[in-house]
Amino acid sequence: MLTPEQDRTFAADGAVTIDTPFTSNDIQSAAAAIDRLLLREKPQGGPEPGHRIQRTSDYFEPALLHLIQHSFLESTAKSALRAEAVDFFATAIAKTYPEPGKPFSFWEHVDIKYRTADLDGRPRNMICSCLLWLTDVTPDSAPLMFRPGSHRIIAAEMDRNPAYIDNPEPFAKLPKLPYAEPRPLLAKAGQLTVCTTATVHGASVNTGTRDRKVIFITFVPKGYAIRANMAIMDKMRAYQNELRRLLRPERVHILPEVSAQPAAAHAS
Ligand SMILES: [Fe+2]
Repeated sequence: MLTPEQDRTFAADGAVTIDTPFTSNDIQSAAAAIDRLLLREKPQGGPEPGHRIQRTSDYFEPALLHLIQHSFLESTAKSALRAEAVDFFATAIAKTYPEPGKPFSFWEHVDIKYRTADLDGRPRNMICSCLLWLTDVTPDSAPLMFRPGSHRIIAAEMDRNPAYIDNPEPFAKLPKLPYAEPRPLLAKAGQLTVCTTATVHGASVNTGTRDRKVIFITFVPKGYAIRANMAIMDKMRAYQNELRRLLRPERVHILPEVSAQPAAAHAS
């Protein structure tokens, strides 16, 4: 559960980093699972071995399922979303390898946009992303860059002109608004960043010597209609259905009701 101050930071900035009850064994086991799943010589979805490798909702390692179904994440998401109950939506894992000698740089985008009423509703009408860091995140280990409060500046623009709400967009295509300067999200292994990808954010270059590993776990208020394209929704539903078999019976309630899953509204 977020403290009142953490909730204010989440609401204002769009991201807050908090301590968790996960043990060092939980974190190390998950990091080892990611090492097995994200082999550099076998990149998923790309023609060349990359420096940042990612997979989404297609793995069932016990160490990762332990995190996904942990009650701490559910209670944190309920608090962040001001929701009586939440649904698990998706998970992703990412590993960023060092790029020795490459100058620090980053790219920026938003994955989604909201109106102010969505951000301030009860429940908050939005996706809550929980980023559990499995390695320390320092300025030289590919910190996620983000512009605090940019989701609210964009939401105010959406309130005036909702014509292009929802679509992912690179920073260059966003309206020119008085955004804060980008800031690195720094954390210790085992800490959790609770955030919205409606802020301007993006991956950066790992200029150091250590791999950076993270698992993303996303939640929505129970019954919230995710707007994503049909292929993504089909993949997520298949993953959720498999989790229905694999999660502990007392944790299955974090999965959306099959009958409550809405049809995809549009492609994005
Ligand atoms: Fe993103």
